[in-house]
Amino acid sequence: MSQTFEQVLGRRAILKGAAASVPLLVLGQAGAQTGSSLGFIPIGPSSEDKIVVSPGYSVSVVLRWGAPLTNDAPDFDLFNQSAEAQARQFGYNCDYVGFFPLAAPSLGHSFLGLLAVNHETTAGALMFPNYVSTAPTRQQVDVELAAHGVSIVEVRRVGSAWEYVQGSHFNRRLTGETEMRITGPAAGEDLMRTSYDPTGTLVRGTLNNCAGGKTPWGTLLTAEENFSGYFANRESLPDGEVRAIHRRLNVASGATSRRWERFHDRFDVVKEPHEPFRFGWVVEVDPYDPSFVPRKRTALGRFKHEGATTTLAPDGRLAAYMGDDERFEFIYKFVSAGKYNPDQREANFNLLDEGILFVARFHPDGTGAWIPLLFGFGPLTAANGFRSQGDVLIKTRLAADAVGGTRMDRPEDVETNPVNRRVYVALTNNTQRATTNTDNANPRVNNRHGHILEITESGNDPAATRFTWEIFMLCGDPNNPADRPTFFAGFDTRLVSAISNPDNFAFDQRGNLWIATDGQPGTLRSNDGLFAVPTEGPERGYLRQFMSVPAGGEMCGPEFSPDDTTLFCSIQHPGSGGVLFTRVVSNWPDGTQPPKPSVLAVVKNPGSSSPIIGR
Ligand code: FEO
Ligand code: CA
Ligand code: CA
Ligand code: CA
Repeated sequence: MSQTFEQVLGRRAILKGAAASVPLLVLGQAGAQTGSSLGFIPIGPSSEDKIVVSPGYSVSVVLRWGAPLTNDAPDFDLFNQSAEAQARQFGYNCDYVGFFPLAAPSLGHSFLGLLAVNHETTAGALMFPNYVSTAPTRQQVDVELAAHGVSIVEVRRVGSAWEYVQGSHFNRRLTGETEMRITGPAAGEDLMRTSYDPTGTLVRGTLNNCAGGKTPWGTLLTAEENFSGYFANRESLPDGEVRAIHRRLNVASGATSRRWERFHDRFDVVKEPHEPFRFGWVVEVDPYDPSFVPRKRTALGRFKHEGATTTLAPDGRLAAYMGDDERFEFIYKFVSAGKYNPDQREANFNLLDEGILFVARFHPDGTGAWIPLLFGFGPLTAANGFRSQGDVLIKTRLAADAVGGTRMDRPEDVETNPVNRRVYVALTNNTQRATTNTDNANPRVNNRHGHILEITESGNDPAATRFTWEIFMLCGDPNNPADRPTFFAGFDTRLVSAISNPDNFAFDQRGNLWIATDGQPGTLRSNDGLFAVPTEGPERGYLRQFMSVPAGGEMCGPEFSPDDTTLFCSIQHPGSGGVLFTRVVSNWPDGTQPPKPSVLAVVKNPGSSSPIIGR
């Protein structure tokens, strides 16, 4: 069903658009920056191989690929890499960044803390001299396994810069080999058992950790996203359920592009058919306890998790919002059965093992429902091939198909605004959306630029099963007729920055939405960046660009310190699109080859301790 954009956006949006002309006049007289609630001067698009940030801010590189984390870690040596060294160094392609304070608020908790950073992927051609993509060496593959996972690193602010603390006893690497526990309803299921782990409760490693989140009790949630690309030879499996489930998740039909299966049997589904079932989960880690055994929390479902962000319901139950980042996949919410205990931290450590997983259904009239994925409920019965709640969770996508979730345009971050309590969904793009299958929540044919939805839970209760929704942003360049219509919550599109492919979100304490992009070089012909937009008041929808990343990079994981005085973020895959030693695309951050994925800290005015925004 296809409607006009006026019908989709609704009367409320059109009225807002009219109201937006009032601040416009003020801005025209005073200049956008001085009339702006954000308080920063927006930057324009950039294609330079450097960080561009709004004037008045300073940027430091806190952690770069290969940084030695432990006292026994060797310095990075491009020509002498080993898995043993990499497992003690900062990993590759940093994505999510979570800040965990180490000091009480009264002691300045925004000057000392732990950064938990995901290492989503590796890029052999940019990591190793003499890398042959169809025939990596065993040593290269093992370095790549060690460069995946998570880094937990102590960091501190010194003046206007941040630095990491080598040798801190908190510093830790999780890799593609670190042993983890499988917990929740799917633990021990037949499909979870392998030759390595006949119990279905232990797994080696976490892979493709994209975005993530934090719990109210101070643990990290790290999300396994495109895990299926690590597992080879699906179509060599016999016809049957295992192959059908792997097909639904797009496990590689033949060889993988990484070729890890040449050296590790567990990445070949002919040799280890169940191993992919042990990936695609949300993993909980206590960053404050270096001996903590990470837990794959199966109650939160198995799919290509972009992230998992949490918020508390009024009655103390925890809600976790999650996107499944593939074209025409779903948005999910987990609601815990138990309630958060603020007085006893460890009492919350099993909260994510019991609860209900829901999939979102968006109705055309601006209402919506969370449909539970419960064994025995509706079509999720033995007659339809579901054997237990654990089985439903292993086959989350098939369960969501069965109950009729709404197929979205690649859901990335889903995150709650701490001020207005609404939930924002990044739908990064879907170039396969056709006229025959648009719907009001995914209204664009060939959606190259993506859009953002705004959900209001019934009663503003994160545990609600009903909601209303509207489109907050239709991304693109408003000045490019080919991109129209664009929509910025009704704000005058002549004033906003162009934006494409929204991916990660953060909110500052005033409830402004910060948006990191992934894909602008292919759509806007400019580098990816970080943007901010008010969600309330006369400047609702007035989007402005704050930062731009080096050539080929993606902006990831924006994260504010607790008092908003520092903004952390990741630069993933700088130099992507080039091939090391033959075509130089990026020399960032050190002016040398190869480029290094790195984590940045941004502060306002060198030496100042002002919040990032405001005057
Ligand atoms: Fe790893 Fe959905 O981005
Ligand atoms: Ca992402
Ligand atoms: Ca976020
Ligand atoms: Ca992305």
